[in-house]
Amino acid sequence: MPERKLERVLAGALDDFELDRFRLIDAGGREIGVVRTVAGFFALRNSCPHQRAPICAGEVGGTMIPSAPEEREYGLDGEVVRCPWHGWEFHMTDGNALFGTSRKRVVIYPVEVDNGSVYVMVGAVSPGAA
Ligand code: FES
Repeated sequence: MPERKLERVLAGALDDFELDRFRLIDAGGREIGVVRTVAGFFALRNSCPHQRAPICAGEVGGTMIPSAPEEREYGLDGEVVRCPWHGWEFHMTDGNALFGTSRKRVVIYPVEVDNGSVYVMVGAVSPGAA
């Protein structure tokens, strides 16, 4: 079985990231969006699991979270992306659809910030592995 390992792909300089605006990178043929929010950095494949919309064109922010009757509470600020086609919301920390909308998940990737640069950790098949 081939050995899976992570490759570190440069996404840009730290200063290149505007708050809540995705930067798209190509990582071995995969289009990945990287975004900096008030909650940190997130990276996800630019494909909604519902009908394959370019989810990184969606709005980043928070959402209304469960609250007491007659109350409206906003939360998860900077952790949510809303698909531009049908409005499904996904939690960028784990890729899950919020509130049971679907069991489908957005593919997410770890992000590392190192010495002023931002990297995405992308799975790859080691060419030398048997
Ligand atoms: S394609 Fe994303 S919610 Fe439908």
